[in-house]
Amino acid sequence: MKKIAIIGGGVMASYFGEACHRLGYEGHYFSMLDGKVDDSKVDFFHEINIFNKDGIVTICKEIGVDGVVPTTELSVPITAYVAEKLGLLGNPVKVAEVITNKYRNRECIKDLTDLLSPKFVAAKCIKDIENSDVPYPMILKPVSLGGKRGITVVNKYDELIGAFEYAANSFRKGVQPLIIAEQFLEGGMECSVESISIKGRHTIIQITQKDSSDAPHCVELGHHQPAPLSDEIWNKVVKGVSSGLTAIGLDNGPCHTEIKIIDGEVYLIEFNARPGGDHIWWPMVELSTGFDIIGAVAQAATGDLESIDVKSFKHRYSGLYYVVKQTAHLKAIFDTCEKEKWCWEKNFITDDLYELVQNDMEHTNYMIYSSEEEDPVEKLLKKQ
Ligand SMILES: Nc1ncnc2c1ncn2[C@@H]1O[C@H](COP(=O)(O)OP(=O)(O)O)[C@@H](O)[C@H]1O
Ligand SMILES: [Mg+2]
Repeated sequence: MKKIAIIGGGVMASYFGEACHRLGYEGHYFSMLDGKVDDSKVDFFHEINIFNKDGIVTICKEIGVDGVVPTTELSVPITAYVAEKLGLLGNPVKVAEVITNKYRNRECIKDLTDLLSPKFVAAKCIKDIENSDVPYPMILKPVSLGGKRGITVVNKYDELIGAFEYAANSFRKGVQPLIIAEQFLEGGMECSVESISIKGRHTIIQITQKDSSDAPHCVELGHHQPAPLSDEIWNKVVKGVSSGLTAIGLDNGPCHTEIKIIDGEVYLIEFNARPGGDHIWWPMVELSTGFDIIGAVAQAATGDLESIDVKSFKHRYSGLYYVVKQTAHLKAIFDTCEKEKWCWEKNFITDDLYELVQNDMEHTNYMIYSSEEEDPVEKLLKKQ
């Protein structure tokens, strides 16, 4: 029986654990107690601080692990380190250590013509932004934090100091803040691109259209698969993101790449070299394609999966809607959605619709659809 090391706990560890059960693999996950999941989900729990890389390596050697997978961005360099020490498939440690750096990644793709960047500058102080050619509106972000931490859209000079301080304060004490200021790309369609890389070859499994609240919070209000794109644009995204993945040096494993498509051009928002959260990788990809994407990441890590045949995928539709203040028009449908054929899951938390300022899946109302036809919720809305 093959054994998989899952770096990190939480919901993604439980998805990998369940995939191990489907595949007949043995799942081992490594996390502190607060990331522990229900014992029925993953075979073995190893309580350890995941930053104790050598501790994980020692346990993995004792177990005789065949593959290592990441759950979150923090776990990406640790996954690479463990894979390297055990001689397993993975990414070069030097690459994995910098792959969350948004500035580094933009520098890597700057010569590509099929994956573009807005104007951007790395800034240690406000002067660096003032002296740059980045126009307003711009967006300030810490170079390598995720989860929307420290991000602000800046419309004019007066807002710059506050935004810079907000981004700088999101760094841990004692860490020199490095901020990226980017031209804010307005309009267009925001998507995420779900991929698995195997020995330097990238397969785009699905493209997801994202409903975004836009500035100031840029939170996600919904996701839909497949993104409604023409074949021409779809192929352009596949080509552009694949070139980008090669440029940043991702050889193996999952990536959830965020992009914006404006006037037929593909712009990078950011790469996340781990499975997509927010129910996008699980269950949405499975529902829309019939492809076990989480299982495939585990199989690719052990060397059991050499290539992926996208032509064999189903062509179905899946999506998720958050039901919050910004999407109050969905409340009537949400109230009775469990009766609908398309309703795959209803997560009811509260009748009081508050404004979503940070994505927190488990504590937010949402409904997931799965259908042979395009977005059934949108159809009901049109009838109202
Ligand atoms: N240059 C940009 N132009 C337009 N929107 C952007 C830009 N950069 C980020 N965003 C918006 O802000 C969100 C968060 O930015 P992102 O770089 O993905 O940070 P995080 O790592 O916190 O997810 C994106 O999903 C997108 O909606
Ligand atoms: Mg993001």
